[in-house]
Amino acid sequence: MSVPQPPEPIPGARLLFSLDPAVSHLNHGSFGAVPIGVQRAQQRLRDEMEANPLRFFTQGLVDRIAHTRRHLAGFLGADPDGSALVGNTTTGVAVVLQSLGLQPGDEVLSTDHGYGAVSLAIQRECRRTGAVSRVLPIPLAASDEQLVQIIRAGLRPGRTRVLVVDQLTSATAKLFPTAAIVGVAREHGVPVLVDAAHAPGMLSTTVASIGADFWVGNLHKWAYAPRGTALLAVTPQWRDRIEPLVVSWEQESGFPARVEWQATLDYTSWLAAPAGLFTLRSLGVDRVRAHNAALAAYGQRVVADALGVPPAQLPDPGGPEVSLRLIPLPAGLAATIDAARALQARIGERLAAEVAVMSWNGRGWLRLTGQIYNTADEYERLAARLPALLAQR
Ligand SMILES: Cc1ncc(COP(=O)(O)O)c(C=O)c1O
Repeated sequence: MSVPQPPEPIPGARLLFSLDPAVSHLNHGSFGAVPIGVQRAQQRLRDEMEANPLRFFTQGLVDRIAHTRRHLAGFLGADPDGSALVGNTTTGVAVVLQSLGLQPGDEVLSTDHGYGAVSLAIQRECRRTGAVSRVLPIPLAASDEQLVQIIRAGLRPGRTRVLVVDQLTSATAKLFPTAAIVGVAREHGVPVLVDAAHAPGMLSTTVASIGADFWVGNLHKWAYAPRGTALLAVTPQWRDRIEPLVVSWEQESGFPARVEWQATLDYTSWLAAPAGLFTLRSLGVDRVRAHNAALAAYGQRVVADALGVPPAQLPDPGGPEVSLRLIPLPAGLAATIDAARALQARIGERLAAEVAVMSWNGRGWLRLTGQIYNTADEYERLAARLPALLAQR
């Protein structure tokens, strides 16, 4: 099988970012990168805030937040009045979990592809309420049909109070068939919380088409928003039950304002987020998606070839827009989270390449992303140098 061709580069795209040119930034997935124009937009808002803090906070800020939320929700195909801006996916998940009113004996069902911090949040909420957490193992190579079947068999109607699934997983870069999962859970009367941290900007699937009771996604990864921008969408039957983590002045206004207004915070990341969407749209949303996914696929193949991993052993993410790709590391490497973090730091220092090293189910994986600021030679350089680094254990 021949290596797929890299996509046409997007000329000048690197110049839109402040990224250190001496480093290959192949891990957009963890913390994103904010285009310079969006940084500037946020700085202008901060200047406005500092010019007259009292006026900024008391004259129309709640409305400006609502206006921004409607715009972002529109882009994501979410109900603008059934969505709330939150700081990040972790916060959105915590808001939902503590609003469920879990009782002793209730069960929170999730999968072994879930994000580590979300698993910790589930465990804490279970400890607090006496509920139990159950984690369904799902093979990495499971097809959509198999995945839905495993989840169907894992639901315990009457006991499972919520099912938590990822739209696109972090450690395993696997696209879950969320709409089908929601359909099955609904047949069994189980609400679903979708962790869609990576979806906004990368995936074209609309929030409405998934139909989850709760959906939360970051705009600060693939939608070029400043960090601290996420959207939590909630179906109508749950909105009155959603409580913020911190009670503040909009508490009596109900959802979404009571979740959005979290006292004196820097809200400029939210207000500047439309500039991120403007950047994405100016470049062409479909063009950016196609470029990033094709480049990640190319990077996966050249690095896998260098490590001697046959194409058949490369996980397929399950969708044409996925811009995260995994490569298995030699057995014994990055088998624990600590070992994965150490290897990631070593690759960053020695090879001037920022990548994600994941440990999943006792095995190490390299996760690469594609973004408009990346070019094929960055993956080729990594491929040329990584085998020697991995050989020095
Ligand atoms: C699947 C998934 N869920 C949740 C998160 C947490 O996102 P945040 O740190 O913005 O809350 C991430 C971050 O990478 C993620 O990949």
